[in-house]
Amino acid sequence: MLDQLNQLERDALSALEHITTGAELTAWQARYLGTKRTKGALDQALSLLGTLSKEERPAVGKRANEVKQSILSALEVKAAVIKEAEMQAAMKSGAIDVTLPGAPAMRGRLHPSTQALRRMIRVFEQLGFEVYRSPDVETDENNFELLNMPPEHPARDMWDTFHTTTPGVVLRTHTSPGQIRVMRERYPEPIRVILPGMVYRYEQVTARSEMQFHQIEGLAIGRNITLADLKGTMAEFARRMYGSQQKIRFRCSYFPFTEPSVEVDVYWGMETERDRMITKGTGWLEICGAGMVHPRVLRNGGYDPAEWSGFAFGMGVERTAMRLYGINDIRYFWSNDLRFLEQF
Ligand code: DAH
Repeated sequence: MLDQLNQLERDALSALEHITTGAELTAWQARYLGTKRTKGALDQALSLLGTLSKEERPAVGKRANEVKQSILSALEVKAAVIKEAEMQAAMKSGAIDVTLPGAPAMRGRLHPSTQALRRMIRVFEQLGFEVYRSPDVETDENNFELLNMPPEHPARDMWDTFHTTTPGVVLRTHTSPGQIRVMRERYPEPIRVILPGMVYRYEQVTARSEMQFHQIEGLAIGRNITLADLKGTMAEFARRMYGSQQKIRFRCSYFPFTEPSVEVDVYWGMETERDRMITKGTGWLEICGAGMVHPRVLRNGGYDPAEWSGFAFGMGVERTAMRLYGINDIRYFWSNDLRFLEQF
């Protein structure tokens, strides 16, 4: 029995010498020491203890324990060696050459609409306007009714509208409903605000009109505001935006919420067929609707038209940017074409 134990120890230790991987070590351990569910060679030897005489038993038991300890400590040493070797191998195979040139990261940038919007807002801020936000989803009441367009009024046809599934709620067709919100919030203070944001129209898309675009609404209300203030504001905006060589013009127009109403055009030119298309054959591009706030609209906002007057405008951001950057098709803005976007 003692011989058997000695032989077992020699076998185990010499088998261990040749082991180089964790998997081999696990198999070795199962073979000599057993696992949770299986017996190893040592357990098998120990199970024979009961067959020995009382005199033999203590010496064999003691030797069995020594063999177990020697196998366990050899295992511990080997396990540490293998772990270290495997870590070295992993580091080698995953090694990074830090002297290689890196892959360049793509740089994002602001969308040209955002760039133009911010530039325009900066100009209006210089002219004393404060930014006010109002929601994209609006009530029919704010978008039309309180702007002097009752239900079924033919003037509503000027804006082809996206309706929501909630009756009386639309995607705003212009930023003008924000005027009502500002007036009701600010009365009886004088007002000088701009309201930038996206507007939505169920419209034929062409080189000059999109179904989704930005506007900057402007509203100034005070005791003595006249059309001359509107004209001065528009002229100064154009001068700061484009420089003093840019020609602009005011043209009579009609909007239900202003009286009188005008439109502001910037000179575009008329050399190519595309120029003719974009300017509808006039050489001028409309960037803004404007006028003196209609007395009924002032009253809807809480301001008595006998005491107060005001001007308002709604400026197209993409149209303004087209002239600024020389973009001859408004559809580029939402086409997500990197060749276009990367130029800004
Ligand atoms: N809301 C008009 C549009 O989208 C533009 C406009 C015209 C705005 C006159 C105004 C205004 O504030 O006074 O076509």
